[in-house]
Amino acid sequence: ADTLRAAAAQAGLFFGVAASPGRLNATVAREFGQLTPENDMKPETIAGPNGTVQNTGNADTLVNYAQNNSMLVRGHTMVWYSQAGQLNGANQATLNTFIGNALRRWGNRVAYWDVVNEALADNNAGTRRGQWPHTLDRDANGDGDYFDATDTDYIRDSFRAAKQAVAAAGLSTKLCINDYDVEGLTVRGGARNNKAQALYDIVRTYTQGSEKLIDCVGFQSHFNDNPNSIITDDLQANIQRFADLGVEVHLSELDIDDDLSNNDIGQGQAENYRKVVRACLNVARCTGITVWGIADSESWRSSERGLLFTGGNGNYQKKAAYTAVLEELNRG
Ligand code: G3I
Repeated sequence: ADTLRAAAAQAGLFFGVAASPGRLNATVAREFGQLTPENDMKPETIAGPNGTVQNTGNADTLVNYAQNNSMLVRGHTMVWYSQAGQLNGANQATLNTFIGNALRRWGNRVAYWDVVNEALADNNAGTRRGQWPHTLDRDANGDGDYFDATDTDYIRDSFRAAKQAVAAAGLSTKLCINDYDVEGLTVRGGARNNKAQALYDIVRTYTQGSEKLIDCVGFQSHFNDNPNSIITDDLQANIQRFADLGVEVHLSELDIDDDLSNNDIGQGQAENYRKVVRACLNVARCTGITVWGIADSESWRSSERGLLFTGGNGNYQKKAAYTAVLEELNRG
């Protein structure tokens, strides 16, 4: 196949992109089979008072575009400490109301939703304690463990609310937890990736018991020079252990720094993309890859050239990384 979208479809997964309405041009529908609103479904934009959903114009534009072009939508995102807008500081009941409203607003036109985003702390201390929405949690039995049956836990309660809304409305929307620096089993230097372990513990707790609350896990995959954000050889093994819990895994916000110091015209970056795509292809339940933007100039990391195209405003040139990804997808 000669597009990313077609090659991925033949290999049995989606290959998508994050975008805003201003970036919807011919390249998007030609190359990508899935769309994530980069900012327009965040509570900052769509949350009104008391868990209502409002101001959905941009999100509707994206969802309609996806529908007209037979692309899947990954909704991003409901419960997040950042860009929370009118949801910031909400109690669990209001969060639950918002979750139900957001799910019903687009129904099955959104195939996957990030219900909880970036719940884990960067310092490997588990969840972001002391910070909303984690402040909703109560350690009922005082054992320091928020992940058991007796304690309140906003992650569990948010997924429960989402599951109930999906069931009540007869939807097939799948519910994801999404985070960054959780990609490798290890980090630079070979130590265990404690953030990945914390995510694994959460997903295991809420999928292996009587309730199956989580359907999918997003590894954001913003790979760069940070010791915790590098591409490790055990990426595939980490994807596999989540897949073994029965959840789908997505590489949900992929971009990879180009090392500009070696003047290799993007060859190293291309090989890194190849490795990452291969790791997903090798695990059956790794069902999708989404790059976080089209061209380097349009990326949130504009100075770091992490994407598959140069150019801008709909006039794009394919990089070596593009060719590598296409080749790898075509290998299946
Ligand atoms: O739209 C306004 C514009 O009107 C205003 O003039 C301008 C001034 O700063 O800001 C514009 O909004 C910006 C928005 O992007 C749209 O471009 C915000 O300031 C800026 O903060 C926002 O950044 C987004 C960022 O999330 C915010 O957290 C990035 O585009 C988006 O790529 C990024 O995406 C996140 C994921 O949601 C979660 N994972 C990490 C990822 C990268 O940071």
